[in-house]
Amino acid sequence: MMQDFAPACERNKVPILSVLRGILQGRHNVLEIGSGTGQHASYFSRHLPHVRWQPSDLPDQLASINAYRQKSGLSNLLEPIGLDLRCTDWPVVNADAVVCINCVHIVSWALVTNLFAGSAKLLPAGGVLFVYGPYRYSHRPLETSNENFDRWLKQRDGHSGIRDFDAVNELALQNGLQLENDRPMPANNRSIWWCKTPPPA
Ligand SMILES: C[S@@+](CC[C@H](N)C(=O)[O-])C[C@H]1O[C@@H](n2cnc3c(N)ncnc32)[C@H](O)[C@@H]1O
Repeated sequence: MMQDFAPACERNKVPILSVLRGILQGRHNVLEIGSGTGQHASYFSRHLPHVRWQPSDLPDQLASINAYRQKSGLSNLLEPIGLDLRCTDWPVVNADAVVCINCVHIVSWALVTNLFAGSAKLLPAGGVLFVYGPYRYSHRPLETSNENFDRWLKQRDGHSGIRDFDAVNELALQNGLQLENDRPMPANNRSIWWCKTPPPA
């Protein structure tokens, strides 16, 4: 069993769970994109037993996610699937919520576009797309910690970087996703979620 460990997940899992508890009331099928180690998937599915949690990531992450899954013994935590945001054809998954934590600033803008388009295609009306991470706002400077993080991200990969909230929200609107909430979180992060609007009559 090869369980990777990300300290950040241990720090943010409790505050994220408290937000997800509200969002996932009355929702039952989560597709998580970029599940990483699998720590979040096992923690959230344990604490949200009414939800079937479908983790996903690039193929090389699946062993760790599966190791957490097997250790948890939870029946509502599904076997992880490969989902690469470079592909626009996603595996067929029944989901009324898409959760994507700390990925939007990692993948390129083209892949952020795929995240929103793919989620909008997958979700039924009333379904929700939830993202967590740092964001840049036009009405105030980026916090110093996030400015440093953004510089580090861009040095590592020129396609990464902290995204502008307005640009991301515009992307959501273009895909029929209406902003539901944008909540401050510890360590200068945000929980942001959009709800899929019904198509015009
Ligand atoms: C910073 S990690 C976040 C992982 C996890 N959500 C967490 O909060 O610890 C970014 C994740 O994005 C995934 N990722 C990178 N490129 C991706 C792609 N093209 N498609 C899907 N996931 C991708 C990585 O494998 C990694 O798990």
